[in-house]
Amino acid sequence: MEKPRKLYVKTYGCQMNVYDSERMGEVLGGQGYIATENPADADMILLNTCHIREKAAEKVYSELGKLKPLKDANPDLKIGVAGCVAQAEGEEIMRRQPLVDLVVGPQSYHRLPQLEAATRAGQKALDTDFPAEDKFDHMDARPKARRAPAAFLTVQEGCDKFCAFCVVPYTRGAEVSRPATRILQEARELVDRGVREITLLGQNVNAYHGAGPNGADMSLAGLIWELDKIDGLERIRFTTSHPNDMADDLIEAHGSCAKLMPYLHLPVQSGSDRILKRMNRSHSAQSYLDLIDRIRAARPDILISGDFIVGFPEETDADFEDTMALIRKVRYGQAFSFKYSTRPGTPAAERAQVDPDVASDRLYRLQELLSQQQAEIQNDMVGRTVNVMFEKTGRLPGQMVGKSDYLHAVHVAGAEGQVAVGDIRAVKIISSGRNSLAGELV
Ligand code: SAH
Ligand code: SF4
Ligand code: F3S
Repeated sequence: MEKPRKLYVKTYGCQMNVYDSERMGEVLGGQGYIATENPADADMILLNTCHIREKAAEKVYSELGKLKPLKDANPDLKIGVAGCVAQAEGEEIMRRQPLVDLVVGPQSYHRLPQLEAATRAGQKALDTDFPAEDKFDHMDARPKARRAPAAFLTVQEGCDKFCAFCVVPYTRGAEVSRPATRILQEARELVDRGVREITLLGQNVNAYHGAGPNGADMSLAGLIWELDKIDGLERIRFTTSHPNDMADDLIEAHGSCAKLMPYLHLPVQSGSDRILKRMNRSHSAQSYLDLIDRIRAARPDILISGDFIVGFPEETDADFEDTMALIRKVRYGQAFSFKYSTRPGTPAAERAQVDPDVASDRLYRLQELLSQQQAEIQNDMVGRTVNVMFEKTGRLPGQMVGKSDYLHAVHVAGAEGQVAVGDIRAVKIISSGRNSLAGELV
């Protein structure tokens, strides 16, 4: 028997890339590859890249440079670039870094077996098409026997929103929903392999409208209610949502579906109507606040998370203060915030840029407010009993770590032996740290 080849995959960017990396590993498993955690051991190295901000994209080239000694030591080593940088830069990657053998965009992963074979034949392989077929329908992926208790499941890809700052519509293509039957089948397979929590993924996941079992379009809420029927699946999450697609049936599901967790990532980007308009967000600060009110009316304890961009072109101090005011009104339990990064080819790249020092200053103030809110909401958890799904052992001996319904990381000392990975148990929160909570089993 031929010795299995080893594949090392490094993943950058969003959860969708995490999901795709797993699928790529499975597809290449069919080509005789097994996974390795050690790049020096690998016969193929795949970087699954992110293009969302300049730093993310530049990281790829510095990482590729670092691989040169490995390639020198092993001329048979194949190096591939997948993901959003592959889509955005295509052949340019091979020009800039000749050690790259393979470039594959996010919608072409089902073609990896042919591309891999071409590299073995000594050719350079490139595929950045947007094929008409759904890659997941054509991926002969062989799922792993045993899975961690929490898994991602991509249900929708691409984006038609064209926010003025964002590369996603260009790197991932048009918005496409996978058929519900396929998703439900995959969910059942995951549950059969030990998964108890599924996070549905999409760049605009709440715009999901895949074909339902009877042929008619199904909404994300419809899909969630179908998942709710799967025995053994205990928790459902979804990300990322756009305010404009927060349909009534989805808000209602947050109030009535026990498996749907009380956490919602709902990016707003800015609290200034002038900037929101310039961003092409097609919602206002007030419509977002009204939406949050409706969501909280359905599920009062829901934890809201958001994304913010500061220093978007033409953002004034007054615009920035509007964002701060919005944050104070919402109270975020979790947030991701970024300095605007110019992305070539997007409309905002052409506009008057904000002084980088001013932007840094705003980011600092914004993050201070957001971490203060995060800390307050974490402190509110102290004394409460919450459900925690245990995912792994902790850093300290005997410690187990899991996630609460609200997605807080929770450590429990001395729990090893009392709870197993995948168990969902009531935990009383006893203290709050920087990015996690500590609790004890009830
Ligand atoms: N589809 C999701 C977000 C995808 S990108 C949504 O619409 O919310 C994740 C986050 O990266 C965005 O929410 C935004 O805050 C940030 N981001 C995107 N493009 C950016 C840019 N050019 N500069 C800085 N941050 C950016
Ligand atoms: Fe990017 Fe806007 Fe689409 Fe989100 S909704 S992926 S920010 S274009
Ligand atoms: Fe990055 Fe592409 Fe995800 S640009 S954030 S990896 S969709």
